[in-house]
Order: sequence, then C-alpha cells, then structure tokens
Amino acid sequence: MSATLSYEDAVDLLDADHKLAQKQFLDYQGLCDDGAPKEARQQLALKICQDLSVHTQIEEEIFYPRVRAAIRDDALMEEALREHAEAKKAIGRIQGMAPSDAALDDTVKQLGATVMDHVMDEREQLFLKARYSTADLRGMVPELYARKKELQSGGTGSKPAGKKKVAS
Ligand SMILES: [Fe+2]
Ligand SMILES: [Fe+2]
Repeated sequence: MSATLSYEDAVDLLDADHKLAQKQFLDYQGLCDDGAPKEARQQLALKICQDLSVHTQIEEEIFYPRVRAAIRDDALMEEALREHAEAKKAIGRIQGMAPSDAALDDTVKQLGATVMDHVMDEREQLFLKARYSTADLRGMVPELYARKKELQSGGTGSKPAGKKKVAS
C-alpha cells in the first residue's frame, strides 16, 4: 500500500485529518458568509461529521490504546476521550437535523470549536508525548490507513465482515 508511505508516522497521518477538518470548517464558514443554500451547508456538515467519526474511531481503536500503554498518563487519555464524547454529541445533533434547521450553522460552529480545541490538545500534549514514548508510531501507519479506508467505504464492525450468504 504505497499511499501509507507518504506518512512519516501515526501522528503525521492523524494530523493530516486535523488539517482537513480545519479546512472543512473554514469552507463551511465560507458557505455561511456567501449565503449558500441550506442543502449545500447540510451536505458539507454531514461530510465533516462522517470524516470526524472515522478519525475519532481509528484513534480510539488503534492509536489511543497503544499510546496510553506507552505514556502511562491515564488522565490525559481520559480527557481526550471526554473531548471525543463532546464532539460526538454535536455530530449526533447535526446528523439528526433537516437542512432547514435553524440551529445547523451554530451547531457546526460549536463542533468546530470543540474539535479545534481538541486538536490543539493532541498536538501540544498527546502527540508530543507519543513521539517521545516507545509506541511504534511508524508501525501503526498501515493499520490506521487500512482501517480508515475500511470505515470510509462503509465498514463499521471491529472485525472484517464475513462473507455474505448468496440467496439462491
Ligand atoms: Fe482525538
Ligand atoms: Fe485527532
């Protein structure tokens, strides 16, 4: 999988997601400033929610447990999970909204603030500690990448899906 080679390590891969999220929130603000149709705003809002859900899931399934074991800072990990839970609440609200919902813009803005605060915490604390730890950040890249692609293509389970029975 040559695409994984473009990432130096797990932090590099995860921070690429952060940069994309930052751009998406700016794009959303641009749609608001331009008075774009509500359907266009909702479409981008749902894309943001989908991408963030994949990102938090690969962190929680793969990156966080291994970093937790390596840095032995449970308080920091719990705080990160609390921030994820806060983001998930806003994501759930957005996913349940109709395009005409008057609260959509404010909820996306609130999600953006929560996510960007969390990104700063990861960059300034968690990622730094991870890079100074014994966690195999390079070794995690293919696994993070594969799981990300699997989730993006609609997979949700923690294990690869079994073969479907073919109706005769
Ligand atoms: Fe995170
Ligand atoms: Fe993250």
